[in-house]
Amino acid sequence: MKDIIAIYPGSFDPVTNGHLDLIHRGSKLFGRLIVAIARNMDKAEPLFELPERKEMLEAMTPELDNVTVDIFDGLLVRYCIEKNANAVLRGIRAVSDYEFELQMALMNRKMEPRVETVFMMPAEKYSYLSSRIVREIARLGGPLTGLVPEMVEERVRQKFAQKELHLTAVNLNPGTKS
Ligand code: PNS
Repeated sequence: MKDIIAIYPGSFDPVTNGHLDLIHRGSKLFGRLIVAIARNMDKAEPLFELPERKEMLEAMTPELDNVTVDIFDGLLVRYCIEKNANAVLRGIRAVSDYEFELQMALMNRKMEPRVETVFMMPAEKYSYLSSRIVREIARLGGPLTGLVPEMVEERVRQKFAQKELHLTAVNLNPGTKS
């Protein structure tokens, strides 16, 4: 597998300890691993902008020489070909992930048979963890310890504090752009 370039795509809004677990596993398995943040127009307003997500991922993986972080637009399989990658790495946490992942893997294979999807399981302790849950806990003021790296926890808290300040400003001055 050491001559294989793999892409690990996702939203990473924000990166969690589960993502990092998978990045470490993937970097051991593949020759090169590109963590690729999707510019996903379908999703509701993101918490972090794409460059912020990239910066956090890079800050969390400096010791992994064969891992790089990038942002991509459009179809994942096209991006794979552009990068000479022949594998897509995805994490499966529980059976509930399987249906969506199967659909995506088969559709990607139909569009581009040269690219295989490889599934890996993160450590069990992260099997209940997702970026969506992290955002929700943070929004409601709950603890993020053990779910995301300390630096990311700090950034998430700052983000919600900024949002709170902004909302207060809008409420005090209804003319302010929201
Ligand atoms: O972390 P996520 O949100 O589960 O990641 C989903 C992602 C980014 C991997 C998926 O939406 C994707 O591949 N988007 C790129 C557009 C694309 O190729 N769509 C067709 C998939 S069959």
